[in-house]
Amino acid sequence: MPESTGKSGARVWRGRGVHRKQDAPERLAADAARLAWLGEQGLPCPEVVSLTHDTLTTTTVPGRPATELDPAVRPRALASLAEVLRALHALPTAGCPFDASLGTTVAAARSRAVHGLVDLEDLDDERRGWSARRLLAELDATLPAREDLVVCHGDPGLPNVLFSADGEVTGLLDVGGLGVADRCRDLAIAHRSTRDRLGTAAAQELLERCGASDRDRDLLPFYRLLDEFF
Ligand SMILES: Nc1ncnc2c1ncn2[C@@H]1O[C@H](COP(=O)(O)OP(=O)(O)OP(=O)(O)O)[C@@H](O)[C@H]1O
Ligand SMILES: [Mg+2]
Repeated sequence: MPESTGKSGARVWRGRGVHRKQDAPERLAADAARLAWLGEQGLPCPEVVSLTHDTLTTTTVPGRPATELDPAVRPRALASLAEVLRALHALPTAGCPFDASLGTTVAAARSRAVHGLVDLEDLDDERRGWSARRLLAELDATLPAREDLVVCHGDPGLPNVLFSADGEVTGLLDVGGLGVADRCRDLAIAHRSTRDRLGTAAAQELLERCGASDRDRDLLPFYRLLDEFF
């Protein structure tokens, strides 16, 4: 039995000291290239052990997701997550070979909508029942005029971050969407995931520790909308 089956259909198996992920070759290659790059930047993540056409093997990161920690440790865990995100967002964008800015991601969103690849059964509550056409129209209508570009993780929801028992981040997982994008892309995902799993106060605390500005907070809905396409 796989340890987890992701919403994209990726299957993850746990071995001795390693995790194996099975997915489409291009998705595994994207994940592997980004893991290697992120590790070189000194940020905590699994090491790539091997990559074949259908399996990515990485070292197992010790630790647990925030939801499984002792509640007394959660404030430290949120602070540690914010520190890691800030360190990631402070990396020079010129040194990052992966692009995830709006030019790329909105084109990909449009293509997924046109090809019927958007999972309309899995929309956020505020968009329940929307068609792909309506999602696209809203995306076009609310497209931000400018981007505050940083290196983003791409999917820093709580299941994709592991922590030690004392609440320090041990590793960032699932980095296939890592690339240069507006920092609100990460803030939106991290905030929504924390809100849904640990509550509104914890999510606000995370935003504050990440140093979110008023402008950042205003853009969270747009980046939540963008995430609906993937
Ligand atoms: N190297 C690793 N070390 C420890 N745990 C891991 C590792 N890789 C994966 N896991 C565990 O497996 C889960 C799923 O892995 P991952 O997040 O990479 O894939 P996914 O969410 O299924 O993929 P996708 O979102 O692309 O469909 C993680 O949340 C984590 O619990
Ligand atoms: Mg994941």
